[in-house]
Amino acid sequence: MRILLINGSLRGEMSSSLKIARAFVQGMVEENGEDQTIVTEVALKDKNIDHCHGCFCCWKNSKGKCVIHDDMDEIRQLVMESDVIIESFPLYFFGLPSKLKAFMDRMICYVSEYRAVNGDESTGRFLHEMRYPELMQKKLVLISACGYEETVDCYDSVRLQFDRICGPNGYTLITAPQGGMLAEKTFENKVKRYLVKFTEAGKEFVRDGQVSDATMKKLEIPMLGHNTFAQAINLNWDEPGVGPYGKIVP
Ligand SMILES: Cc1cc2nc3c(=O)[nH]c(=O)nc-3n(C[C@H](O)[C@H](O)[C@H](O)COP(=O)(O)O)c2cc1C
Repeated sequence: MRILLINGSLRGEMSSSLKIARAFVQGMVEENGEDQTIVTEVALKDKNIDHCHGCFCCWKNSKGKCVIHDDMDEIRQLVMESDVIIESFPLYFFGLPSKLKAFMDRMICYVSEYRAVNGDESTGRFLHEMRYPELMQKKLVLISACGYEETVDCYDSVRLQFDRICGPNGYTLITAPQGGMLAEKTFENKVKRYLVKFTEAGKEFVRDGQVSDATMKKLEIPMLGHNTFAQAINLNWDEPGVGPYGKIVP
């Protein structure tokens, strides 16, 4: 099994979503067997990715080939070679961070052109076919951390977006609240225990091909209780030198 982990956070090793994603991948590797699994990590922050120019040459002229040549050439190749694509990202204004969105927009060459087909309005109108059939065999997992105390309602727009793009059963979304706290040294031991749940979910994903609703519910339980979280987040903003936010990202 080939796993491609695309990290859409610009916080490098401080990234909370990357921590969760790596824990999940660890579970996948353990379940699938180390010698049977190849993991490739791509940090979008280190990649040169232009925005989609919207020229539609990839739909009309060059059928599947983007006219812009930058690091997307290499990343698209990695996507083609992988069985599971994991996109890890922080929630930004209830949506995707712009670098990940730029990556996604540049994948439009792998989607077939939009055509008018009579009668498709009620079902699947917004689902474009994949240009290459092998893309349908790949699994997409989204793993995201957000800053709020709980994830309730935070991911509605992300869910809606991917329901439209992949179909409701075409992807797996794993989310975690209190993201900043995963980078806080004070909670190091708690974080270790918390991440075990994501490793277990990774194992389940390989075993069953999905993460059950019961496991999802467990993953959504916040790491800190309300009072501890409230104290920690407020101290973070009020006390210089305390807390994970505001540290310079190398
Ligand atoms: C520009 C910006 C927008 C954000 N918007 C949200 C938001 O809408 N909801 C939320 O819960 N957290 C929001 N956050 C907080 C991040 O999602 C949170 O800190 C996350 O854990 C960062 O993950 P990372 O360490 O992987 O980058 C925002 C942060 C930034 C910098």
